[in-house]
Amino acid sequence: MSRIVYVNGRYVPYAQASVHVEDRGFQFADAVYEVCQVLGGHLIDEPRHMARLARSLAELEIEAPMSAAALAHVMRETIKRNRVKDGLVYLQVTRGEGYGKREFTFPAKDVPRTVVCLARTTKPGAQDAAARTGISVKSMPDIRWKRCDIKTVMLLPACLAKQAAHDEGASEAWFVGADGYVTEGASSNAWIVSDGGSVITRQITTDILPGVTRATVMDMLAKENLTLEERPFRLEEALKAREAFITSATNIVMPVVRIDAAQIGDGKPGPVTLRLRSKFHQFANISGA
Ligand code: PDD
Repeated sequence: MSRIVYVNGRYVPYAQASVHVEDRGFQFADAVYEVCQVLGGHLIDEPRHMARLARSLAELEIEAPMSAAALAHVMRETIKRNRVKDGLVYLQVTRGEGYGKREFTFPAKDVPRTVVCLARTTKPGAQDAAARTGISVKSMPDIRWKRCDIKTVMLLPACLAKQAAHDEGASEAWFVGADGYVTEGASSNAWIVSDGGSVITRQITTDILPGVTRATVMDMLAKENLTLEERPFRLEEALKAREAFITSATNIVMPVVRIDAAQIGDGKPGPVTLRLRSKFHQFANISGA
């Protein structure tokens, strides 16, 4: 089946999907995005993703291209047209094309924003297979800007970190600030479980992305009577943690069994992590098709 992409009001075949060379997303990374999990054809945690998209747009003073409901409709339609049952949907909004020449300052607010939506099926079982063994993480200096709370497409530090991790056989990088504290993963939030069983993740500031999966895991912790500690942790604390894991729309809850040269816990996915992973969709918002 040929893939269909939504671009600026039209559903077009993959090979014909394109945006203008003067697009500010291309020239300046002047763009925001969301990635949502699709499960059984349903969007997972759509309200939280749409709320974060609205916030990212507002923080950058990009006028929303359409209502949240219309954007959600585009996502659903793209999922349907690509017959995605289990996979991902990617929505990107750029500030558009602007002046017809490369110009740093913003164009007028009514210049059409560029909207692109892609959906794809993910390899069945690949996630669960990775979760059974757990993944390795490489620590990297956090070289990103000071507004990591905005979900922009300015992802070069994440690409560099993930490539460095990949080169060493790790699947994710954990960014570590100059102060020695872990900020987050290159494309995920970072968590550890202490000896006492507390589940620890950094509090939301402009240093990290307010992860949607993170928020749903927090709801779960409260209802499952698990203790949450929302605070920064040092890399050394993580290396000695009983368990570690990451959260993201692409991983849900994924056990981390190695950070750099250190084995985490007994080197196997931990019980708290696996419990959170197995129960996640009982707590997530699952929207109608
Ligand atoms: N990344 N932190 C960063 C830097 C991220 O890029 C992501 C998500 C997260 C987790 O957020 P959420 O739980 O809302 O997916 C945290 C997406 C999946 C990506 O870029 O592919």
